[in-house]
Amino acid sequence: MVNVLLGCTGSVATIKLPLLLQGILDQNETEVKVNVVLTRRGEHFINSLPFSSENVKVFTDEDEWSSWEKRGDPVLHIELAKWADIFVIAPLSANSLAKLANGLCDNLLTCIARAWDQSKPLIFCPAMNTKMYEHVLTKEHIDKLLSWGYKCIPVIEKTLMCGDTGLGAMAEVDTIVEYIKNVIKEKKLYKNV
Ligand SMILES: Cc1cc2nc3c(=O)[nH]c(=O)nc-3n(C[C@H](O)[C@H](O)[C@H](O)COP(=O)(O)O)c2cc1C
Repeated sequence: MVNVLLGCTGSVATIKLPLLLQGILDQNETEVKVNVVLTRRGEHFINSLPFSSENVKVFTDEDEWSSWEKRGDPVLHIELAKWADIFVIAPLSANSLAKLANGLCDNLLTCIARAWDQSKPLIFCPAMNTKMYEHVLTKEHIDKLLSWGYKCIPVIEKTLMCGDTGLGAMAEVDTIVEYIKNVIKEKKLYKNV
């Protein structure tokens, strides 16, 4: 059993969440549980959450605050950070990328990232407009995350939803799913040693 935490931010690529989920769950050899964490802006790109099931749960900032009332209650971001074997953030917006690179933690997703055990894999898939991507800060922020051992699945070039053509689109869902499958395989191998 592998626990995958999937974070989605306020990028239009979050509309691909159902496809991404399906790909991750479609593992032949390993049982996978997925917890999805949406930022407030990420929620905007999901009309409904029809994919909640025994193996998939979806969390938002609301859950972080409604699940804690008194001392002794579990703190959701800490629980999710401990629960996960792998943290995949796809898509990662320019805003959340900047927050992660600078240690900011003002919502469920960034609190999980701040509480992340850095010996576990964290994979991020940036997605943004070409101009945003080409801004000098983007490379600076990505390099910071890479220096911590996090893995980046690079953006691709295409005509973006805003009409601009260039680098900045999230990697293809198949590429991301394949990458996750390989990490799961490695993790299983490691567990079996
Ligand atoms: C329709 C629409 C699409 C957007 N797409 C992106 C995107 O692909 N990448 C990005 O970095 N920001 C995008 N933004 C801007 C982010 O939603 C905005 O920076 C937001 O604050 C991100 O919040 P989050 O990082 O907490 O999810 C988009 C905004 C709108 C209105």
